Amino acid sequence: MFNTLLHRSARPASWQKIPWDEPDFSRRMLAEHLSQAHDAASRRFSLIDQHVAWIQRKLLQAQPARILDLGCGPGFYSKRLTALGHSCTGIDFSPASIAYAREQHPGGNYVLGSILEADYGEGYDLVMLIFGELNAFSAEDAERIVVRAHAALKPGGRLLLEVHRHDFIYRLGHEPASWHTAQGGLFSDAPYLCLTEAFYEDDCAISHYYVYAAEGGAMQQYTTMHRGYTDDEYRRLLGTFQRVLFYPSLTGAVEPADLFVIAAEK
Ligand SMILES: C[S@@+](CC[C@H](N)C(=O)[O-])C[C@H]1O[C@@H](n2cnc3c(N)ncnc32)[C@H](O)[C@@H]1O
Repeated sequence: MFNTLLHRSARPASWQKIPWDEPDFSRRMLAEHLSQAHDAASRRFSLIDQHVAWIQRKLLQAQPARILDLGCGPGFYSKRLTALGHSCTGIDFSPASIAYAREQHPGGNYVLGSILEADYGEGYDLVMLIFGELNAFSAEDAERIVVRAHAALKPGGRLLLEVHRHDFIYRLGHEPASWHTAQGGLFSDAPYLCLTEAFYEDDCAISHYYVYAAEGGAMQQYTTMHRGYTDDEYRRLLGTFQRVLFYPSLTGAVEPADLFVIAAEK
C-alpha cells in the first residue's frame, strides 16, 4: 500500500481529468450534481435559476435563440433555457448525466460524446461552457474547443465561458495535503479512505486522490488538473472573436468569487 505513495510523482506524463465518462463514476457523480446540499458538481437549483435569468436578460435579450451547452451535465441549464423558448443542444460524455437529462427532458436534444470530438453543428446564437470546465482541459484542448465553438456560432453569436481566476488555480495547487473517510461517496459505493495531495507547476494545479478501500485495502488513484490563465491570456485565447467582454459572475452580482464570466462575440 505504502510503496505506491512512496514512489508517487507530482506531475503525470499526460493531462488528467477525473473519469466523468466512466459509467459507475458518472452514476455516483450524478448524485453530486443532484444534491441540494452543496454546489460541488452543479450549482444548487436556486442559483441555476438566477444564472438562467441573467443569460436570458443579458445575453439573449429574451429573443429565441439556438443554444449549444458544452459539458451540459444533467441538463439543468438546457432544460430551463428550452422552457424559455430557446432551442438547445447539450453535449456531455457522462452516460449517467445524459441518461438523466433525456429522462427529465423528453424531446430535449442531448448528445453523449466528448466535446473534443463530437459534431457541434453550426448556426448557434450562443455556445456555453460553464462552471470552470474550460480550465479542466489542457491549453491545447482548450484552444481546440474555442476554435470549434467559434466555427459553430453564427456571425454575431456569442461564446459564454465561466472560467476560473488565475489566483484560484494557484490556491488549488497549493492546498495542504488532507484526508477523509466516507461510508460511500464519489469514489466508491463502499467505505474508503481518501488521501489528497496537490501540486502547482507551469500555471497548472494538479490534484491527486489516493482512494483506499476499507475492505481489502485496494488502492485506486485519481488525478485532476486545472490550467490557470491571466485575463490577457484569456483574451489571447479568444483572439479570433470580434469583441470580448468580462462580467463578474453568471448572476451579474459583483462578489468575491473563484469564477468569472467571459462573453466573446463572433
Ligand atoms: C462541473 S460539471 C458542470 C455540468 C453543467 N454544466 C452544470 O453546470 O450543471 C462539468 C461537466 O463537463 C463534462 N465534461 C468534462 N469533460 C468533457 C468532455 N471532454 N466532453 C464532454 N463533457 C465533458 C462532465 O461530464 C460534467 O458533466
